[in-house]
Amino acid sequence: MWPDRRLIDLFKTEFPIVLAPMAGVMDAELVIAAAQGGALGSLPCAMLSVEKAREQVSIIRQRVSAPINLNFFCHVPVPSDPAQEAIWKKRLDAYYKELGLDPSAPINAANRAPFDGAMCELVEELKPEIVSFHFGLPDQGLLARVKRSGCKVMSSATTVREAIWLEEHGADVIIAQGAEAGGHRGMFLTENIAEQPGTFALVPQVVDAVKVPVVAAGGIADGRGIAAAFALGAAGVQIGTAYLRCPESKVTPPARAALAQAWDDSTVITNVMTGRPARGVVNRLMREVGPISPDAPTFPHAATALAPLRAAAEKQGKVDFTNIWAGQAVRLGREMPAAELTRAFAGAALARLSTLAG
Ligand SMILES: Cc1cc2nc3c(=O)[nH]c(=O)nc-3n(C[C@H](O)[C@H](O)[C@H](O)COP(=O)(O)O)c2cc1C
Repeated sequence: MWPDRRLIDLFKTEFPIVLAPMAGVMDAELVIAAAQGGALGSLPCAMLSVEKAREQVSIIRQRVSAPINLNFFCHVPVPSDPAQEAIWKKRLDAYYKELGLDPSAPINAANRAPFDGAMCELVEELKPEIVSFHFGLPDQGLLARVKRSGCKVMSSATTVREAIWLEEHGADVIIAQGAEAGGHRGMFLTENIAEQPGTFALVPQVVDAVKVPVVAAGGIADGRGIAAAFALGAAGVQIGTAYLRCPESKVTPPARAALAQAWDDSTVITNVMTGRPARGVVNRLMREVGPISPDAPTFPHAATALAPLRAAAEKQGKVDFTNIWAGQAVRLGREMPAAELTRAFAGAALARLSTLAG
């Protein structure tokens, strides 16, 4: 069976597979379906209010009796800088004109917020079995409260140095996020994206450096990838991109079409969508302004001025300003219900592992 059962024993799931939290493109429905298939379902909370997060957890708890992971960003919030905003608006001016939008109109779009006291109270109230963080860990006081609530804590490391830091600061599980991964780089001790190791190089080095179980993430999209992660010493996998085309995700029809057409070389790491490096399918803004631009305001403020552009373009069925986060294995994604897909992942991985053991 599974060569390493540490994660299954810790999470009490059927399979050592984690549905990645994917803020903005999923909600309770995908969590429920993946959990019904035997994975650990993760609810991304970075773009949810406390009330909305509570409602989503209640929906999940009513529909499935399985452990859940609540996921939060934990970047240090910085206020929006008017000078940076002005430079960014100027850079985007031609797009505003093209779409007939007023650049001075107030913008009221949901953005990404870090874990704080209010969300911590929610964790204390709901006691999810697992809490995962992206961009490091929250401050010691908040983290201690999460752990006192009985939650196991996971966080992403993009380098060995980050993995050691996370273990020293109390993470129970390390997610080793290789450069192939879709979405934001979880990097928090470095800003140099050129240095970011790929999953194949990162996982065994993290496994050697820490004692806690390691979950491999980035570019894993089928049984072969899962078996390879175990061969590298991982105790489980976190899979995001390969779940995006499931009917239970909230990916919009034009973004779904872009994902279906993407190849292995269709994604890049960009900072223009939010201000922080993230991997996604190239869109018009990334092509014309990025993929990396010094004009993009600090995370998450770059996203604010893009919100009206995105909405107007999407009305025309275009993804010119939509962040279609996806990893390098996007082409392996399948359109399949998430429970079925999860069971297919597990079955194919076990078959591959037994062939290799053969
Ligand atoms: C659309 C999308 C959104 C993501 N949003 C989050 C998030 O909200 N929180 C988080 O911890 N990771 C997020 N990630 C990163 C995943 O946790 C994980 O590292 C990644 O999906 C693994 O690589 P893969 O996409 O190749 O499977 C996101 C990834 C994708 C594809």
